[in-house]
Amino acid sequence: MGADDWWKKGTIYQVYPLSFQDTNGDGRGDLAGIRSRLDYLVWLGVDAIWLSPIYPSPMADFGYDVSDYWNISPKFGTLGDFDALVAEAHAKGLRVILDYVPNHTSDQHPWFRASRASRDDAKRDWYIWRDAAADGGPPNNWLSNFGGSAWTFDSATEQYYYHAFLPAQPDLNWRNPKVREAMYDVLRFWLDRGVDGFRVDVLWHLMKDAELRDNPPNPGYQPGDPSIRRLLQVYSCDRPEIFEVIAEMRRVVDAYPDRILIGELYLPLERLVAYYGTAGTGVHLPFNFHLIQAPWNVREIAGMIAEYERLVPPGEWPNWVLGNHDQPRIASRVGVRQARIAAMLLLTLRGTPTLYYGDELGMVDLPMRPEKVRDGWAKNEPGLGVGRDPQRTPMQWSAAPNAGFTSGDPWLPVQPTYASVNVDALSRDERSILTLYRRLIQLRRTHSALALGAKRLVESPQAVLAYERTHGTSRILVALDFEGAPKSVPLPGGRGTVLLSTHLDREGESVEGAVGLRADEGVIVALAT
Ligand code: GLC
Ligand code: CA
Repeated sequence: MGADDWWKKGTIYQVYPLSFQDTNGDGRGDLAGIRSRLDYLVWLGVDAIWLSPIYPSPMADFGYDVSDYWNISPKFGTLGDFDALVAEAHAKGLRVILDYVPNHTSDQHPWFRASRASRDDAKRDWYIWRDAAADGGPPNNWLSNFGGSAWTFDSATEQYYYHAFLPAQPDLNWRNPKVREAMYDVLRFWLDRGVDGFRVDVLWHLMKDAELRDNPPNPGYQPGDPSIRRLLQVYSCDRPEIFEVIAEMRRVVDAYPDRILIGELYLPLERLVAYYGTAGTGVHLPFNFHLIQAPWNVREIAGMIAEYERLVPPGEWPNWVLGNHDQPRIASRVGVRQARIAAMLLLTLRGTPTLYYGDELGMVDLPMRPEKVRDGWAKNEPGLGVGRDPQRTPMQWSAAPNAGFTSGDPWLPVQPTYASVNVDALSRDERSILTLYRRLIQLRRTHSALALGAKRLVESPQAVLAYERTHGTSRILVALDFEGAPKSVPLPGGRGTVLLSTHLDREGESVEGAVGLRADEGVIVALAT
């Protein structure tokens, strides 16, 4: 793979289709809505959009319970709408990445309906069925990620089936070659329609221990944690057999030029990097969520970045993520001032950045009143704060009713801030966080040092993270204050020009000897060479 690969230089933007733009007044976003907003994404400067699932689905997990892999949900549109979206995106220079959900289907999928109908059905072994344990209980102690046992008893055939998530999301049996072939055909179906790649849902879950051994207790479990944390997921995920499956998927995708596989992987860094595989047999980008998970202070963040960079195998390309539809929003996690620091960090680190829709507006989590809760996990485990609705509220386009998202009743409430926090207003404000995101993406596009350059840490005062990016003769310094106090950062090489400040008021300023930072300020400085 060369430095020219689009997905190395490019910025990826996650669209949560249900919440992006509604066009038919049913309160849910749709494909025509996404299509109508492509110009915004071009204006923002991103290179690719990743769409959370748009397939037919009973929506028990809002599309992550697929009942037909070869179609578009009528709630989102038609295959024709999809083709039109891809064609128009491509014409505008945007790539389209789909969500691929291979670990489980909906319990309404014809495969599962057949599988549960009889022990003798040809599809029985497409899922994971087991007899009860001697005491009549579940076959082992595995837990669902969304609360309770991962096994549900089906009285029709008197066996349990396994589901790592909701009972309405039975896990496919990836040890069955027929499952693999069918699921690779799904990839080909969408690749043939022109998609540029896939984000693979819960990739580390696909293969389970052949003997289904019990998971060991987690000594780190604290009362009040989600119940999945009671056990260490030693035997239920991240098994060595997964790499054979990924190598097969990679071969399918590599038969098409310029396509990409991204894996959703919540794993410690040492395990995460294993998913690059060896010699092009893994995913191109194992999603790196450690900026989401690390405590927000320089020591932790700098240490994590260094460790990650050390572990990414030679020849492979790093990546960074600040938020997604499963995680509290960055502006809620670190506050609105540090959210600008986070934006500058994400877009100046070495590696492909992925943005979550609305983070460029500084959108925050919206706490849900109990009657508004939609997320099945929140319903299963109330009171633990695990609900994901707060970060899935409608995109805020304008000060029009419902933020311009819908003329109907939005499926999740619109944030009350939308009158001022919206694309219309923030795009006209020279100092807004949206302007900052746009300028950062532009700088990344125009400065190869930021997109592709080498990176090294630079000496800096406490609570400041400073690094240099270099490419050819171009040298760029990034300095970020994590603490909310003014600092002075020595300039390597002595002199430079400010390209951008998180406060958006210093462009072109000459700096000599050192660059001053105000509280919560980050700067990008072109160093004199
Ligand atoms: C992934 C998705 C999440 C979903 C889960 C089960 O983690 O991002 O939204 O609930 O998989 O499919
Ligand atoms: Ca709609």
